[in-house]
Amino acid sequence: MKESTTPGANRSGMAVSPLMAREMLEVTNLTTPSARGTAADALAPRIEYARRAGPAATVPPPASLKELAKTALKALRGHKATVLADKLGERLAFERSGARLYEGILAKLDVHGTWRGGPSRAQLERIHADELKHFLMLHQTIQEMGSDPTAVTPSANVAATASAGLLTVISDPRTNLRESLEAIAIAELVDNDCWERLAALARASGMKELAARFDGALQDEQQHLTWVRRWLAAALASAVGVTASAEEKVRTQLASGSRAAPRRSPIARPRGGGVKRVARPVASAKVRRKKPARRR
Ligand SMILES: [Fe+2]
Ligand SMILES: [Fe+2]
Repeated sequence: MKESTTPGANRSGMAVSPLMAREMLEVTNLTTPSARGTAADALAPRIEYARRAGPAATVPPPASLKELAKTALKALRGHKATVLADKLGERLAFERSGARLYEGILAKLDVHGTWRGGPSRAQLERIHADELKHFLMLHQTIQEMGSDPTAVTPSANVAATASAGLLTVISDPRTNLRESLEAIAIAELVDNDCWERLAALARASGMKELAARFDGALQDEQQHLTWVRRWLAAALASAVGVTASAEEKVRTQLASGSRAAPRRSPIARPRGGGVKRVARPVASAKVRRKKPARRR
């Protein structure tokens, strides 16, 4: 794979021309802002716009109660149905984009190939099929609700805007497979989080069958994230010349270290009562300093 970290010309940093960099910084003293006021003042119009603005999108009304009663979603009533319809719309939009993202990733695989410990075509195709399967399942669920699967709900609108950068990275012809997978890692993290919340929402609404469908999707997403993390770890490991297993070991240690309870200093109880915290010797204190060499 052609690595983007190969040394090349400095095309963006000021260090390429210290003389011109100094001149460029002088401009900040020569020019004045186009408007009076401070950065804090610029917040005022934003607040005003936000107060006046309506919603970016709305949720289509769910089916009539008569229609709902015929479906697996009969437990839904009123506001609950609207909240669920909004989140279902968000997931549907994200899964559809997810399938498109993996089509872009497959194209990058064809151009750049993979690396030791990297993705295989079969794995990428399996994830692509999963994303498509999730999309179709959501499409069916929304239809069962009597809602419109093609409608952009408020949460779908926000998610599409927030994840627009991922598509930009993957469709950029200059990015390689590893860089594209960095973008996919963000999508998979969001996927995992959102499916978990959606399943919890369905369960809290008493819809066990729907929650089970979402749990199935979450299991797929967990597998996707595990693979993407491994591929990225292997890519970085090979770039710096360590084995993927060594990198994995370090990552596991870091993960378990962050979960461990913070170390606390032992507490000494003096006779007179009260509590005195004893400082634990720091690791650096154990290191003996080398004596400076005598001059001859
Ligand atoms: Fe997904
Ligand atoms: Fe996924």
